[in-house]
Amino acid sequence: MKILILYWSSTKNTERVSNRIADTLKKEGKSFEIVKVEEDFSCNLFDYNLVFLGTPVIEFLPHKRILSFLKEQLTFHRREGNVKLCCPKVPGKYAVCYCTYSGPHTGKREAIPAVLYMGQFFEHLGFVVVGEWYTVGEFKGIEKASLQGKLGDIRGRPNEDDLLDIDNKVREVLKEVEIANEL
Ligand SMILES: Cc1cc2nc3c(=O)[nH]c(=O)nc-3n(C[C@H](O)[C@H](O)[C@H](O)COP(=O)(O)O)c2cc1C
Repeated sequence: MKILILYWSSTKNTERVSNRIADTLKKEGKSFEIVKVEEDFSCNLFDYNLVFLGTPVIEFLPHKRILSFLKEQLTFHRREGNVKLCCPKVPGKYAVCYCTYSGPHTGKREAIPAVLYMGQFFEHLGFVVVGEWYTVGEFKGIEKASLQGKLGDIRGRPNEDDLLDIDNKVREVLKEVEIANEL
């Protein structure tokens, strides 16, 4: 099984989650690539069986670095004929979309569009989305948003409990994908 972790992170919250995904995969004996999506990064997602894509939530959507990566990918795959009407599933292709968010105004609701957006991208390629994960992250630089927002005091998040939750989710996904593919 070929696994790729792709993410962007400005203040390291999403990076911590991404590194934890990597640590858990390592513990489970899986090999993988992990890449922070820099400006001119490109890859062929169809080279992988399981792709983790992570972003901070910025104004309800993925970070612009992730948005432009997805746009480029969509253009490429449309040209390749990989975006088909009714989006038939491509066997052996799975994705997990995850975010970190601070939810200062409406809580988790303001993170949902970002994760659904990324999920729609994968579904358009025929990948099965096997995880949509939301991890709370401190709003670094604006203390008020980490103390008085909808989620209360979120300083220090993601914390160890948040990361333990990620461990469990990674193991569940591996089980699901391995069972589906009889690996
Ligand atoms: C400009 C900006 C806009 C943001 N917009 C949102 C938002 O709409 N909803 C939300 O829940 N968090 C929002 N956040 C908070 C970040 O999503 C959150 O702190 C995240 O964990 C940062 O991840 P990172 O450390 O990986 O960059 C925003 C942060 C910044 C800097």
